[in-house]
Amino acid sequence: MNRKGVTLQVQERGLIIAIDGPAGAGKSTVAKIIAKRLGYRYINTGDLYRYITYWALQRRMNVKNCEEMDILSGEIAKKLKEMSQKENSIEKYFSLDSDISDKIHSPNVDKNVSFVAQHQNVRKNLVSIQRFLAKNGSTVIEGRDIGSVILPDADLKFFLTADEYTRILRRYEELKERNYTVSFQEVEKEMMKRDQIDSKREIAPLIKPVDAILIDTSNKNIHEVTEIVLKKIQTHLKRKIHGNHKS
Ligand code: DC
Repeated sequence: MNRKGVTLQVQERGLIIAIDGPAGAGKSTVAKIIAKRLGYRYINTGDLYRYITYWALQRRMNVKNCEEMDILSGEIAKKLKEMSQKENSIEKYFSLDSDISDKIHSPNVDKNVSFVAQHQNVRKNLVSIQRFLAKNGSTVIEGRDIGSVILPDADLKFFLTADEYTRILRRYEELKERNYTVSFQEVEKEMMKRDQIDSKREIAPLIKPVDAILIDTSNKNIHEVTEIVLKKIQTHLKRKIHGNHKS
């Protein structure tokens, strides 16, 4: 199908595409490419939890303390909402600090982010900002609970996964690229712990929603995965157009 045609149809209709999955499954890489190809907004919800964690560590707060994390996440969510209402984007807020992407993807944030993300009030404080951002036009939004909790009515849901070794290797290489010195074993330990907390926590654990399309990215390159996702989106749109014509 003509790509320009697809993009136009997508823009006219507006879609919410939710991509969930564990760390290292390839969500961010794929979500960014898909958003760019379709001209959609891209939202990485993991960055919100990482940003709160980064500031908690900067302020030497206790990431396991519910009250402290409730207050901090409330403050940050309020600022983000104000910014996004003004700018229709949170990128400006993040770009106030040019190194923020490296800082929030540090090994220390990796180690602590799941503790922050398991607090009920932290999650509650971030719900409305995530829904607000996704409401303003066609969006590719990635995280752990997007299809299950944040946007259960998303038009299309994907659940990306990969075997443990592949996910650890990807994360290890990403950290090396960001000039962090960590061993493969350290990344392995951190990732296994994070997986465990993210999928076993009481509130909004990482699960595959029943209506999500499962993609195992272990033996696929980025191009192959994005093509699968794009094809599914095209099929979805064709069906939608067909359905509309019939009615
Ligand atoms: O996608 P990521 O690895 O950058 O996410 C960092 C952490 O944030 C992840 O370990 C769990 C948490 N998270 C979450 O609980 N819910 C989301 N929607 C996104 C991330």
